[in-house]
Amino acid sequence: MNHESIEEWWDEVSSYYQEEIGSDDLKTVRYGPFGSTERKLRLLGDVRGMKILELGCGGGQTSIALAKRGAKCVGIDISEKQLGHARKLAKKNNVAVEFIKKSFSDLEHPSDSFRNGSFDIVVSVFALQYARDLDRVLRGASRVLKTRGLLVFSIDHPFYLLIDPETMEIEDSYYRTGKLEEEEKWPEGSRHTFVMYRRRVSDVVNALVRNGFAVERIEEPFDPDDKVWGSGYRRKLVRRIGPTIIFKCRKTPTKLLMRKGY
Ligand SMILES: C[S@@+](CC[C@H](N)C(=O)[O-])C[C@H]1O[C@@H](n2cnc3c(N)ncnc32)[C@H](O)[C@@H]1O
Repeated sequence: MNHESIEEWWDEVSSYYQEEIGSDDLKTVRYGPFGSTERKLRLLGDVRGMKILELGCGGGQTSIALAKRGAKCVGIDISEKQLGHARKLAKKNNVAVEFIKKSFSDLEHPSDSFRNGSFDIVVSVFALQYARDLDRVLRGASRVLKTRGLLVFSIDHPFYLLIDPETMEIEDSYYRTGKLEEEEKWPEGSRHTFVMYRRRVSDVVNALVRNGFAVERIEEPFDPDDKVWGSGYRRKLVRRIGPTIIFKCRKTPTKLLMRKGY
């Protein structure tokens, strides 16, 4: 059976993913494979009392870690299976996080849980590479954020994706962007299509600027202590180029954008 949509793929893979990667260590945010932690990078600052929206929350680890530090979190994801894990994990940890089935591509228009300017921070860990239209997601994130609110997100490092882990050679062009589809055959014989979207660093930064965000920091960490996400990665390769890139951005006041004539 073919599972072409991203939603179906994540429903199918969710249990395996949570067993392999879904960390039960919820003391801090982990930004991705070898991608370091909030404890080390301090991108979000003191989150006590902050209203935080997480895009593509998966098993909820990020929102739960932030809720434990006093934030009021809402996590959205398209996979009901992933959300099921998230709700269970929040209950187990005795924290209140609202987990809602919603696509991060559908935040452009106001709704009850997602009013204009209602969040201090929007955060996303390794999820926006599944966005077909990044501008649309950023317009939604900007709408729900307060002015000067923070957007912090991690995605696959686009350089890492070009290297063949076996040969350590560049096997693909940096300029081949857009939809990436990979046919997979799983051990029990079923066939699946993995879909994600590749972007250059400049594509991401220009989309942020177009949508009224100022980029404050870009992090390209290599954290050798990653025991959570690290199992499927070749040490020799990740030591040379880490799989994770993180962007910290701030919603710019509209007046400033108008004055600059954007
Ligand atoms: C690699 S997982 C990361 C999950 C989680 N942030 C973590 O750190 O484990 C990517 C997640 O993005 C979700 N996702 C993909 N497309 C989405 C969309 N359009 N809207 C919301 N979530 C989406 C998937 O269902 C999946 O849970």
